[in-house]
Amino acid sequence: MDFLTDATHLHITTWVVALALFFAAVVMGTESKGRKIVHMVLRLFYILIIITGLALFIAWSSADAMQYGIKFLFGVLTIGMMEMVLVRSKKQKPTTMFWVLFALFLLATLFFGFKLPLGFDFLA
Ligand code: HEM
Repeated sequence: MDFLTDATHLHITTWVVALALFFAAVVMGTESKGRKIVHMVLRLFYILIIITGLALFIAWSSADAMQYGIKFLFGVLTIGMMEMVLVRSKKQKPTTMFWVLFALFLLATLFFGFKLPLGFDFLA
């Protein structure tokens, strides 16, 4: 499974696609069929993010268990907040808090991802 652990391109692809799907779903009418489909595909991408992230984690986390652990946690929380925003907006409930948490967790995930040794490293 070298293609999962030798580089971060696949992992990056999965979360970039997920973010695009998330923003697409957010701007669609809450009852529209398009949004349902986009949300369904997004959930598939959550799984792909986690599979590609987990593969990297298993291969490399012994290098710095704490920072890799934090990266893992923030990654999962970012996914959780995307889901909260979509589900709560569908139920017509307030989402401001979850948007703020989404932004914070996303920034933290990007920060730790780019800081960690594999792939791009411009935050060293
Ligand atoms: C929306 C969620 C996520 C985002 C935005 C994200 C973002 C990133 C970024 C920017 C990188 C650095 C890529 C590079 O430097 O080439 C990265 C690497 C990584 N991600 Fe994620 N990630 C997410 C979810 C996850 C999850 C859920 C896991 C764990 C299951 C995970 C585990 C990892 C690992 C282990 C690395 C390699 C770190 C390294 O050594 O550079 N990520 N991710």
